[in-house]
Amino acid sequence: MSPAPNPGAPRLTVVHDRLRPEEHLLFEAFDARGVHVERLYAPAWQWQAGAVRRDGETYLLRTLSHARTLAIARALESDGATVVNASHVIDTCGDKAATSAALARHGVPQPETAIVFSRDEALAFAERVGWPIVLKPTLGSWGRMVSRLHDVDALDAVLEHKMHLGGPHHQVFYLQEHVDKPQRDLRAFVLGETVIAAIAREGSDWRTNTARGATVRGTPVTPDIERIALAAAHAVGGGILAVDLLESDRGLLVGEVNHGLEFRNSSEPTGVDIPGAIADHVLALTDRHAPAVS
Ligand SMILES: Nc1ncnc2c1ncn2[C@@H]1O[C@H](COP(=O)(O)OP(=O)(O)O)[C@@H](O)[C@H]1O
Ligand SMILES: [Mg+2]
Repeated sequence: MSPAPNPGAPRLTVVHDRLRPEEHLLFEAFDARGVHVERLYAPAWQWQAGAVRRDGETYLLRTLSHARTLAIARALESDGATVVNASHVIDTCGDKAATSAALARHGVPQPETAIVFSRDEALAFAERVGWPIVLKPTLGSWGRMVSRLHDVDALDAVLEHKMHLGGPHHQVFYLQEHVDKPQRDLRAFVLGETVIAAIAREGSDWRTNTARGATVRGTPVTPDIERIALAAAHAVGGGILAVDLLESDRGLLVGEVNHGLEFRNSSEPTGVDIPGAIADHVLALTDRHAPAVS
C-alpha cells in the first residue's frame, strides 16, 4: 500500500508537549502575523511508519526531551516534511561529543576537548591541560552534572560514580580544559544565516546557566560573536540555534550549541523580539518548501 496524502494538511504545525512560556510566546507571534498554526501535542500522537505523505508541510519542534524530539524529527522527515530543526542538527547538538566533532571538523574554536574511556586517559588529559578540568555528560543540559574537578581524588570519585551508577552514556567521559573566563558566558541566537541577538549570562556559580540562577543582560553582536556563532551554526548543520561562547585569552571558544531554544528572558534585555523573529524565519521556510500551486 502506498502512503496516502495528508488530507487538509496544515502548512505549519508546532509540535509540543509541556507548554513553556516560549511556546506561548511563539503562538502569540504567529497569531500577531495572522498565521494559522496547527498544534500537535506529542503525547497524544502516534506516527505510523510510511502511512502518510507530508510533502510541503513544515513542523516546528518544541518538545522538551532530546530523545523524543529526535525521534519525532526523523519520523516526520521520512514522511517528506520539512522539520525545524532537522534531525541531523538535533542529533549533533544534543550530544556534546558529536558537537565537538562537528566543530573540530569545521575548524571552529572550542576549549581543549577530549573523549576518553578510562581513568588513566582522563588523568593524562588533566596532566596535559592542567587542573582543574571539566567533565560533562555527553547528553544533558541546565549545567546538570557538569563538574569542575580540581584533583585526582575528585576525578576518581566522579568516575567511580559514573561507572557504577550511570547508564551507557556515562561510559563516555567528555573532558575539557577549564576555561578561565569572566563570571559569564555569551550566547548568540542564530536563525539560519543571521545572528539576531546576543546575551551575557552572569552568575555566581561557575556554570552560568540561567537554571542555576544566572541573570541575563543584552550584549552587542560584535563581528567576532557573529563570525564564530555563524561558523558554529554552520558546523552543526544550521537552523534555529543558540551558540554558547566562552571568553578565553585565546578569544571566543564555542561551549555548546543548543537546538531547543529557551528565550523567555532574552527579548527584554536585548530589545529583540526573539519569538517574532523565529516566527518570521519559520514562515519564510514554509514558503520556500510549499509545493508550487498549479
Ligand atoms: N570548559 C569549561 N570551562 C569553563 N566553564 C565551563 C566549561 N564548560 C562549561 N562551562 C560552564 O558550565 C556551563 C554549563 O556547561 P554546558 O557545556 O553549557 O552544559 P549544559 O548543556 O548542561 O548547559 C556553561 O554555560 C559554562 O558557564
Ligand atoms: Mg549550556
